[in-house]
Order: sequence, then structure tokens, then C-alpha cells
Amino acid sequence: MIQLWCLGSHMRTTIFSTKPYDRQFLETSRKDAIELHFVEAHLSPETARLAEGSEAVCAFVNDDLGESVLRQLANLGVRLVALRCAGFNNVDLVTAKSLGLSVARVPAYSPHSVAEHTMAIVLTLNRKTHRAHNRVREGNFALDGLMGFDLNGKTFGIVGTGKIGEVLSKIVHGFGCELLGHDIAPSPSCEALGMAYVSREEIFARSDILSLNCPLTPETHHMIRKETLSLLKPGVMLINTGRGAVIDTRAAIRGLKNGRIGSLGLDVYEEEADLFFEDLSGHVLRDDVFARLLTFPNVLITGHQAFFTEEALGNIADTTIANIDAFRCTGVPVHAVSVERLAGKP
Ligand code: NAI
Repeated sequence: MIQLWCLGSHMRTTIFSTKPYDRQFLETSRKDAIELHFVEAHLSPETARLAEGSEAVCAFVNDDLGESVLRQLANLGVRLVALRCAGFNNVDLVTAKSLGLSVARVPAYSPHSVAEHTMAIVLTLNRKTHRAHNRVREGNFALDGLMGFDLNGKTFGIVGTGKIGEVLSKIVHGFGCELLGHDIAPSPSCEALGMAYVSREEIFARSDILSLNCPLTPETHHMIRKETLSLLKPGVMLINTGRGAVIDTRAAIRGLKNGRIGSLGLDVYEEEADLFFEDLSGHVLRDDVFARLLTFPNVLITGHQAFFTEEALGNIADTTIANIDAFRCTGVPVHAVSVERLAGKP
């Protein structure tokens, strides 16, 4: 395509927190006018200088895009922060705006990837297939401790019925569950499936399975905490594939110990930045809260992998490159995130 209207002919982008799979997919989607500079380091006040010479940086969920980092980036001449994820809770949008930094994200890449992984956690926690697999491999065919429950007929609550919540609703509907939803903006397609929208208190009280699929905002931060634990249906299966800090982990541990939470499935964790995406198997685990979580037989944790499908990575790379290219040409990325969105629906 001839792009005579482009503002810039060439754009260097530093990709932080690069994993081999990021490199593979981004290089496949890359356009000639975009130079990609891959670094493995997380973006932080100590590493921001690695963006020197780039007009754009590409960052992921646990990169630090707080005030100090943004100021450093702006001083280095960076003009675009292209997130290769949907959530933007890690970006200080107010500072970005004041510095004239554009922020872009990948609003949708595969809601199916996260919804299907959410269901994998629900099914594994319920039917204990992870434990059964290990038992059978050791020649132990006893069923004690493996009993689950029928999902059919259970009440499945979804907090945040956006793109992922909608796909999850369809899957859960197929299992014969009663659907409850809570959202600041109800989805007509969920309502068409028979989802009843209720208050936060009511979805807490009535859900046998409660899935958190909302973004992390001031309103959703520690939605599950000491004060709200008692509102949950006793024995609830609680699933969080949204963002870690929607749950106060210490409160969840309390709920697991007193039985209010019957089982807990997490793909995200509020202190995950120090743990997830790295092989720490040879290191001492320093996070005592996380270590306590690992001791429960009724807790299942995956390391922020819900998005991790071929389709999602391909879409993330395509959209990230499209954001950078549009910014290169017009000064505006395709999917801009603005500070105004902090107050409303992302
Ligand atoms: P979306 O923007 O399509 O949907 C989010 C929904 O949450 C919207 O309907 C919105 O109205 C609702 N919401 C916002 N504030 C709320 C509140 N206070 N109470 C109830 N509902 C509220 O986003 P999408 O694509 O469905 O993703 C949802 C979240 O999932 C993302 O923000 C991100 O944090 C997380 N995510 C996790 C991934 C993983 O790999 N574990 C991958 C992708 C996203």
C-alpha cells in the first residue's frame, strides 16, 4: 500500500518483556517501516533507558508504566506506548496525557481464549482432573477426594459481561447453568441467553460459581475483600481471570480457611509481576501469601496464560503493529486509550 500521507517514514519500537513467542508473532506481523528492537527486560524505572532511540515502546501486562517511567520515556523522545494487551490498569494515563504520550492497546484479540481457559479452570477445579491424572499415572485408581458436582442447573455468575464475559456466557449456557450477570453496562446478547442482571450483592449471594471478568478499576479493586466475603454464597467456586487485584488475596485465604470459598481458581494474582512469565523453579519462593495459596487442595492457579492461544497471539501482534503503523502515519493509533476512559467503560 502506498502511504504518501504518512507523517513518518520509519518508526523504531522497543519491545519490553520479550519472550520468544512475542518475537515470533511480532516479526511475522511487522511492516517494513517499523523497526522492532526486542529486549527481555521488564519496563521499569531502571530499564526505561533501553528505549533510547525509539519513538514507540511496546509493553505487556506487568510492565511498569507509572509516572516515573513515563517521564523517562518522554524525555527519551518516545511518543507512543503500544500495549500488547487489553487491560491498561498499569498505565498512569493522567501523566501520559500531560506528557503528550499516546497510549494504545489491543482491545480484543480472542475473547474465546480467555473464556475457554476460564472454563478449563472451572472444570479442572470441579472434577479434579489434575489430581486424577497424577493418581492414575501412579497406579492409584481410588476415587476418594475426586467428587465434583453437576454444572447443569447451577447458578453461574459473571461480573463483567464484556467481550470475554459474553463468550463465557454462551459456553456456560451450553452447560445448562442459570446465568446471572453484573455489569455497569448490561449486554443484550447475554440477556438474549437468559442472563438476569442483578446487583453486586445479589450476584455474590446467589452464585454457585462466580467468575470475575471485569477490568481492574478503582471500583473493582478488591471487590472480594474481608468485608464482602460474608456476602458470598457459602462454598462458592470463585474464579478470577480478570486482574489479580480484583481479589484481596489475604481475604481469599481467610475465606478458604473458613469454608466460605469452596474452591478458588486464579489465572491472575495481585502480586504476579514478581512471579509470572518467568521460570523460577530453581528459586526460593519469597511470596508467603502466594506460597500459602499453593497449599490448598481446592485452589488451582495458572500463571496468566488465559490469553495464550495461537489465534490470540496472532491477533495481538497484528493489532499492535496496526497501532504503531497508524500512529506512524497519522499520529493517532487505531485503538487509543485515553484518560477519559478511566471513568467509564474501557
Ligand atoms: P471488555 O471491556 O469487553 O469488558 C469488560 C466489562 O466489564 C465491560 O462490559 C464493562 O462494562 C464491565 N465493567 C467495568 N467496570 C465494571 C464494574 N465496576 N462492575 C462490573 N462490571 C464492570 O473487556 P474484556 O475483553 O472482556 O476483558 C475483561 C478483562 O479481562 C480485561 O480488562 C482484563 O483485565 C482481563 N483479561 C485477562 C486476560 C488473561 O489472560 N487472564 C486476557 C485479556 C483480558
